[in-house]
Amino acid sequence: MLLGVNIDHVATLRNARGGDEPSVLEAALISQECGINAITVHLREDRRHIHDSDLKELKEKLTCKINLEMATTSEMLEIVLKTKPEFCCLVPEKRQEVTTEGGLDVSSNIPYYNEYVRKIQDNGTLVSLFIDPDIHQVEASKEIGTKFIELHTGAYANAFGKDNEEHEFQRLLTSAKRAQELGITVNAGHGLNYKNVLRMKEIPNLHELNIGHSIISRAIFVGLRQAVLEMKELI
Ligand code: PXP
Repeated sequence: MLLGVNIDHVATLRNARGGDEPSVLEAALISQECGINAITVHLREDRRHIHDSDLKELKEKLTCKINLEMATTSEMLEIVLKTKPEFCCLVPEKRQEVTTEGGLDVSSNIPYYNEYVRKIQDNGTLVSLFIDPDIHQVEASKEIGTKFIELHTGAYANAFGKDNEEHEFQRLLTSAKRAQELGITVNAGHGLNYKNVLRMKEIPNLHELNIGHSIISRAIFVGLRQAVLEMKELI
């Protein structure tokens, strides 16, 4: 299984002080050195974490793939066509949400997504659709002609260790299998951490996981000792 590392929350921390520390580029370069498949960034409409200048710099300086998560707006379409990342993942976006809450409603908007996806694919960027693990949405994605979907693992992550874990896991498994029958490559992500990620190995042929918050959170604790000791040494 491949890993896409989402570095949005390095930018969240940077933006809290408005300066340029910690560096989003450095986080991407360190992740890239680990042999990951892609650096994932979500350029939100409100630019709450990743900024346009981050995307430009990453595109110029990284050698690994960039997976741009974006809402299906005309502004984002212009950006993706201009930036030409290797990959882009279309997500629904609400201004008030803390993080992406649900998947795209592809089945109710087939003509819209069809045209939107075609424009991006014709420009050389592969597209995946971020959808809930729901057979209707999987089948609708096939109609759009996308070769990739990303299954929203948020409900499974929230249910992990609780009574409905199995139910949510089975929804992922069934949707992944259906997509694969239809010839769609299946990625997954959202809310995955160092515990709940292990069950992703029970889903056959899952291609890539996109993981952000838990990796950046863990990085604080695997790095904090050294950071404190370095400062102690300096003073
Ligand atoms: N995949 C998609 C489509 C997302 O929107 C996000 C959050 O930006 C992620 C994966 C990563 O989620 P998390 O930060 O919870 O690992």
